Amino acid sequence: MDDIVILGIESSCDDTSAAVLRNGVLLSNVTASQAVHEAYGGVVPELASRAHQQNIVPVVDQAIKRAQIDKEQISAVAFTRGPGLMGSLLVGVSFAKGFARSLGIPLIDVNHLQGHVLAHFIKESDDDNNQPSFPFLCLLVSGGNSQIVLVRNYDQMEVLGQTIDDAAGEAIDKCSKVMGLGYPGGPIIDRLARQGNPNAFNFAKPHIEGYDYSFSGLKTSFLYSLRDWLKDDPDFIERHKTDLAASLEKTIVDILMDKLRKCAKATHIKEIAVAGGVSANNGLRNAFHEHADRYGWHIHIPKFSYTTDNAAMIAITGYYKYMDKDFCSIDKPAFSRVTI
Ligand code: KG4
Repeated sequence: MDDIVILGIESSCDDTSAAVLRNGVLLSNVTASQAVHEAYGGVVPELASRAHQQNIVPVVDQAIKRAQIDKEQISAVAFTRGPGLMGSLLVGVSFAKGFARSLGIPLIDVNHLQGHVLAHFIKESDDDNNQPSFPFLCLLVSGGNSQIVLVRNYDQMEVLGQTIDDAAGEAIDKCSKVMGLGYPGGPIIDRLARQGNPNAFNFAKPHIEGYDYSFSGLKTSFLYSLRDWLKDDPDFIERHKTDLAASLEKTIVDILMDKLRKCAKATHIKEIAVAGGVSANNGLRNAFHEHADRYGWHIHIPKFSYTTDNAAMIAITGYYKYMDKDFCSIDKPAFSRVTI
C-alpha cells in the first residue's frame, strides 16, 4: 500500500500550526504562537486573524521542509473546521481548500475537540505503542471547554458531562487576572502553586448534579475573598501569592477529579486520558498519577507539546478519517460553535 501522508492545519484561536504525518507517524509539527495578545490580557480576535494571515504560508512551508517531503507526496489536507474564532478559522480553512485543490487531493474537516482527544494517538516513531485502548474516558480541559468524553472509537465520542458556565482554563485565567498576574494565567498559576500551600485557603466548590461542571461560583468566591482580604491588607496578594495559587489550583483539580472519578466508577472504565491546554498543569498531572495508584487507572497524559493547540492532533484525526474515506467537499464552511 502507498504511504498515507497527511498535512494538518490548525488556526482555531491564536496558534498557527501545520504538521505532517506519514502512516500515523509524526514527521513535523510547526507552530507560530502570537505574543501580540499578552498586552491585552486575552486573545483579540481581529489581531489573531491578521497574525494567522502572516504566519500560515511560512508555517506550512516549514512543516513540509522539516518533514523532508515534496508537496506532491501529500495524500490529503486535514484542517480544523471548528469550534473556534471565526476570523481565525477562516484563514486555515481557506488555505487548506486552496492548497488541496491546487494539488488535486482530498480535504478532511476535523473537529478541534476531537483532535485534542485523538492527540493520544500521535506516534513519534513506528514502535511508539502507548495509545489508549477503547473505550476510554478523556477529561478535556482547555480555555474554552471542560468536559468528560466517553471515547468508544476514533469517530465515536459522547460527552458525558461538561461545564454549564466557565471552562477550567477560563477560571484560572480570570483569577490570575484578578491577582494582577500576566496572561495566560495557567502557566503562571502552575509555577507559583509549586511553592505554595494548597490548604492555605478555602474557595467555594459547586454542587451540580451528574457529571457536569461549573466554575463561575469559584471565580466569584475567589474575587470576593480577595476583596475582603485586601481591605485589611493592601499587600495581601503579594504576600500570599504562592498560597493563593496553590489553593486555587487544588480547588480546580479537586472539582475536575471528583466528577471524573464518579464517572469512571459508574462506567467501570479504568482507561483514563486527559487532554487540552489545562492538561499541562502539574497539579492535575499529579492527581492523575495518584488516582492511577489508588484506583488502578491506566492513565494517558499527553506530552506538553500536544496539550495546547497544535496541528499534529488535527493531522492524526485526519489520518483516521482518511482510512474511512471520510472526506469533505470544498463548499463546507467553518463553524465557530460545534460539539464533539
Ligand atoms: O487548549 P488550549 O491551548 O486552548 C483552547 O482553549 O483551545 O488551552 C488554553 C488554556 C488557557 O486557559 C491556559 O491558561 C491553560 O490552558 N493552561 C494551563 C496551563 N497551561 C495552559 N492551565 C493550568 N496550568 C498550566 N500549566
